[in-house]
Amino acid sequence: MEKEPVVYLDGKYVEKSKAVVSVFDHGLLYGDGVFEGIREYAGSVFRLDEHIDRLYDSAKSLHLKIPLSKDQMTEVVLETLRRNHLRDAYIRLVVSRGVGDLGVDPQLCKDPTVFVIAEPMSSGLGPRDPKVVRAIVSSVRRDSVDATSHEIKSLNYLNSILAKIESNNAGVDEAILLDSRGFVSEASVTNVFVVKGGIVSTPSSAAGILRGITRGRIIKLCGDLNIEVRETDVTRFELVTADEVFLAGTKSEIRAVGMIDGGKIGSGGVGPITRRLYQEFAKLVVRPEEGLPVFQAKTLSAPAR
Ligand SMILES: Cc1ncc(COP(=O)(O)O)c(C=O)c1O
Repeated sequence: MEKEPVVYLDGKYVEKSKAVVSVFDHGLLYGDGVFEGIREYAGSVFRLDEHIDRLYDSAKSLHLKIPLSKDQMTEVVLETLRRNHLRDAYIRLVVSRGVGDLGVDPQLCKDPTVFVIAEPMSSGLGPRDPKVVRAIVSSVRRDSVDATSHEIKSLNYLNSILAKIESNNAGVDEAILLDSRGFVSEASVTNVFVVKGGIVSTPSSAAGILRGITRGRIIKLCGDLNIEVRETDVTRFELVTADEVFLAGTKSEIRAVGMIDGGKIGSGGVGPITRRLYQEFAKLVVRPEEGLPVFQAKTLSAPAR
């Protein structure tokens, strides 16, 4: 019989079929918790420190005390990959408020629940062009920065899910959300970039975005390649009249947007700047300085709660 994958759950590595959480967990009852989605490329975890930092910042903003140090959490991610013998993987790291009663009060939840799932996933990046997707501008507005801000990578994704339902119903791949002011915010689970006259623009934190780690790396890459890049407000007009639009995120990597609300973007295919950034990004994800090696790192035992 094939061996089951293992999941880290509250201090133990358990078989996938035994990795279960309580129905009284406030992560499930109220979306009260935080998470990260992380990639391992060729045996190295891409920008793991940044993901760990963002996880702890998200938790801090919720007054959620993670029961592991950042070093211990890093080791848990690496060990989960090792135990599953994974060299190319997608990692889901979740910290929820834990078990409480049926009331919303987080103070009644004593111990946060921590789990790490790692599944095989090979890179979609390669020598060929990125995938081209079609999108709509959703009627659902991104939660504003003074509401359930997506700067917090929380377990509450209904805002994105409502937009995704709208794009599903429209028969397209993606939904781009505007912020409460009417400027472009982000897509359901990716950041948005527009290119006009050779200049790359992407919405800033003011637009209620999650500050994506892929986004950050692409901004730096633009600098390295001498491509002008701006973090700025982007209007719907600027979006639909752009020469190129692309989306960026850990799981879907880089995707060109060929059509928005039935109108072509540029040629409707992959534009030259999107192609260049995609090709360079494909090279950099496997550079040793971009990640933490999984199989050479020191091995500690699984930290107890
Ligand atoms: C709402 C949202 N925006 C943007 C992103 C992209 O962020 P990252 O590049 O860190 O994966 C994600 C990724 O999950 C997301 O959920």
